[in-house]
Amino acid sequence: MALSSMTSSNPTAAGRYPAGSAAFAHRDLIALAGLAPWEILFLLDEAEQWVELNRKPHKRDDRLAGLTIINAFFENSTRTLLSFEIAGKRLGADVVNMHAAQSSVKKGETLIDTAMTLNAMRADAIVIRHQSSGAVGLIADKVDCPVLNAGDGQHEHPTQGLLDALTIRHAKGDIAGLKVTICGDILHSRVARSNIHCLTTLGAEVRVCAPPALMPADIEALKVSPFHDFNVALDGADVVMMLRLQQERMSGQFIPSPREYRHLYGLTLDRLARARPDALVMHPGPMNRGIEIDSNVADLAGRSAITRQVEMGVAIRMACLDVLTRRSRKVEGWT
Ligand code: NCD
Repeated sequence: MALSSMTSSNPTAAGRYPAGSAAFAHRDLIALAGLAPWEILFLLDEAEQWVELNRKPHKRDDRLAGLTIINAFFENSTRTLLSFEIAGKRLGADVVNMHAAQSSVKKGETLIDTAMTLNAMRADAIVIRHQSSGAVGLIADKVDCPVLNAGDGQHEHPTQGLLDALTIRHAKGDIAGLKVTICGDILHSRVARSNIHCLTTLGAEVRVCAPPALMPADIEALKVSPFHDFNVALDGADVVMMLRLQQERMSGQFIPSPREYRHLYGLTLDRLARARPDALVMHPGPMNRGIEIDSNVADLAGRSAITRQVEMGVAIRMACLDVLTRRSRKVEGWT
């Protein structure tokens, strides 16, 4: 299905998860690893109503009115921070952003002390991005409200995995059976990890492609097929997801040069022709145009879903904030 004909139809939820009861039994959203298929589908289904609302001129639903959400970002972000802020505000919550660069973290405060401070302010949900894998889970153990992981080191970025799955579902329908090729810096990518867990749980065939130095040693344990030759990995793919080289997480030289990297692993129009003729092109952003993806592919009308991913991101974050605060809001069936 071409991007232009994407629909926002809400697929029937009947029979996929326990209707009318708490269909998401977790307090926090730290990782997609370990979630059941129906828990992921529940969050995707919940997001559909927000896709529709966000396309209307009046984008407001006040179900989180009176609640305080803190976005604590210890690492730079454009789309994830903005997206969580917009999501909270569209649901009527008071949203406060804490940037680590302007916080007491710079004065040597420990992560646990920062967590206890946030907790004492009685937030109703805390969204955290941190440069260390596991840091968000650590904070979650110290606070009394739901915690949402907005990316922790190279571990996971669960709302990115969900928004990518929603984008794929809108373009292709059912995710089960699709061939998804993820190419780039798999080793350092939390986006890759969350997508692998999400897409394999939903029944997709996931191929990962990277130069040997950027492929995790234990990758096959994640039920994906590893490739080093991008041309082979693209053969017959329904979805091609490109990743940035995460220079900030690299210590030392992982690739010979950006030019050589593009030659072997860059998504060019010629290379895209190896995938299915209707293959969807995705990238979580920020893109390094001319390195992992050429501009004429990133902007390819009807094929590139990159701005659609950003749109789905707001809806997914609204769904996650709504669902995770249902217990404290005493929504029927969620107490
Ligand atoms: C990603 C991230 O921060 O993990 N971006 C995002 O959240 N959209 C990917 C990246 O930084 O390359």
